Amino acid sequence: MNRLRPIVALYPGSFDPITLGHEDIARRALRVADKLIVAVAHSSTHDKRGLFGVDERVRLAQAVLGDEDRIEVRSFEGLLVDFARREGAGLVVRGLRAVSDFEYELQMAQMNQELWPEIETIFLVPEARHSFISSSLVREVASLGGDVSAFVSPAVLTQIGEKLGSN
Ligand code: PNS
Repeated sequence: MNRLRPIVALYPGSFDPITLGHEDIARRALRVADKLIVAVAHSSTHDKRGLFGVDERVRLAQAVLGDEDRIEVRSFEGLLVDFARREGAGLVVRGLRAVSDFEYELQMAQMNQELWPEIETIFLVPEARHSFISSSLVREVASLGGDVSAFVSPAVLTQIGEKLGSN
């Protein structure tokens, strides 16, 4: 292994919106990577049922992770492996919250490996208190008037309030 080359990792996801669990994983990833690209997936199917558009999701991730100068937030379209190759990132980071995540994550990791054999996927485990948080539950609870302040950063909370208030 040539450690003269910095390790660039990608942390891909929908991040709609970015939660405290995602933030935890991103900061942990800096323990194994020199640079982390938080890669916000652009997906027209997701955008139809999601809360925030891709540019808003990028801005929110930048707002909450802006204190880490080794983290960059970008959006991408198309295959993750193509974006990884373009960015010179040989490592994909994903969070594993529970056994129920495992099947889907394994399938994605192996498909990505098939598409680009150079790619490695590693799974990081969030702090236990973040294990049950998911963006989809945050969206659901917030849209039904529930308090999601324990699951997202204040900047995200404000934007959720504005978005739902304007709908
Ligand atoms: O946060 P999510 O929604 O679980 O993230 C899923 C994501 C965006 C990582 C995955 O859908 C993805 O990689 N999409 C990009 C398109 C692609 O490469 N698909 C094949 C993945 S095996």
